[in-house]
Amino acid sequence: SQIKLHADYGGLVPELASRDHVRKLIPLMNQLLEESKIQKSEIDAIAYTRGPGLMGALMTGAVFGRTLAFALNKPAIGVHHMEGHMLAPLLSETPPEFPFVALLVSGGHTQLMAAHGIGQYELLGESIDDAAGEAFDKVAKMMGLAYPGGPNVSKLALQGSATAFDFPRPMLHQGLDFSFSGLKTAVSIQLKKVAGQNREADIAASFQEALVDTLVKKSVKALKQTGLKRLVIAGGVSANSRLRERLEADLAKIKAMVYYAEPALCTDNGAMIAFVGYQRLKAGQPDGLSVTTTPRWPMTELR
Ligand code: KG4
Ligand code: ZN
Repeated sequence: SQIKLHADYGGLVPELASRDHVRKLIPLMNQLLEESKIQKSEIDAIAYTRGPGLMGALMTGAVFGRTLAFALNKPAIGVHHMEGHMLAPLLSETPPEFPFVALLVSGGHTQLMAAHGIGQYELLGESIDDAAGEAFDKVAKMMGLAYPGGPNVSKLALQGSATAFDFPRPMLHQGLDFSFSGLKTAVSIQLKKVAGQNREADIAASFQEALVDTLVKKSVKALKQTGLKRLVIAGGVSANSRLRERLEADLAKIKAMVYYAEPALCTDNGAMIAFVGYQRLKAGQPDGLSVTTTPRWPMTELR
């Protein structure tokens, strides 16, 4: 984890991230091979994250992964980061079957997708401004909580009242798109109004409730619109326990099921990238010899 590296800055610093990747990729690989008692020669293929994301970090991983594959004379597969998140719940003990609706909520993305099969993804709606995780991180920063903000805001929310403040649920009745920047501004105004009154926990709980409420209602709407009965939630924010609780309750009412990955597979991890690489290898889709990165890459462009 690089959390300590970025914590002093209150957010992720791209250049520090990629320099640290350069330093740690080889020791990390050696440690993993040792722990899992696997020889390099036993590796069948190398999957790496091709995009979307920060160019420096993508380049580091792509050059490393592609080069390693070349050296071992094995196929390489450049994987879509959000497809990794979306399919991570397939690694759980009770994996969902296709088709399903996916709610992808990370630091950079908030999207509702209809997934009909591997590579058959239809965008139903997305955030027109801040991502859900980004809203958590910015609210955390306003409250002086450490990076990454999501887990810290939700921990503080446990001590507050979710109904203390009635924060806006933007675009609730407009299609399946999201907007969280107005909610963030409302929180900022409220924090200033009650400064010194020790109301941070109430604000955290009410903010979380407004955001979760929006995610839940739009997910239910997406299920109704598509007629699907399975919802997969993925990405860092899918680790949020209030979101899980509310989804379990509201989906039961419409006889739909919610699926998610185990906590360690919700936030960024290598297993989800390896899993998608395996699926794409099986589908006969290894990449060529070039090192490819795609910082902006809509998932609907996948085959
Ligand atoms: O998917 P992820 O690990 O990285 C990206 O691809 O962005 O997601 C990170 C995001 C951060 O914004 C973090 O604050 C948020 O997920 N997050 C949470 C929780 N755990 C992580 N947000 C709310 N509640 C959580 N428990
Ligand atoms: Zn991620």
